[in-house]
Amino acid sequence: MRIAVLNGPNLNLLGTREPAIYGRATLAEVERAARERADALGVELAWQQTNDEGRFVELVQGLAGRAQGALINAAAFTHTSLAIRDALLAVQIPFVEVHLSNIFAREPERRHSLLADLAVGIRARFRGRGARLRLEALGEATPGPWG
Ligand code: DQA
Repeated sequence: MRIAVLNGPNLNLLGTREPAIYGRATLAEVERAARERADALGVELAWQQTNDEGRFVELVQGLAGRAQGALINAAAFTHTSLAIRDALLAVQIPFVEVHLSNIFAREPERRHSLLADLAVGIRARFRGRGARLRLEALGEATPGPWG
């Protein structure tokens, strides 16, 4: 079972970027926690981050036949990118949309996601416990080691 984790723009700055909103964990620390949980489940994680919308589209296109599911934090592209929506529609991979903050309690322009209706679920604001909750949420929608 291979799960892709796609992280969008500015998530490379986690740890120092607006810590009151996004927490103090770096992306590397979030990745480590996710890998620990994935290892326990016998799941292989393919972890990527990009600041570039075109590259994000290519990463989604590349999921076809290479991953059974995905955890996707498209960051600001969540609210703007029809191109990423189209790529997800084309690839038809089960994914959970994830956010570190509760986008529904933020500025109006962040309360709408162009991806959420395509997702098997959405997880917002779990921070430390997020990796476990997201993987298990995806597990509910994907046949695999969750049973
Ligand atoms: C985010 C929320 C987005 O609105 C924002 O642009 C991000 C991060 C989150 O994880 O809370 O960069 O996706």
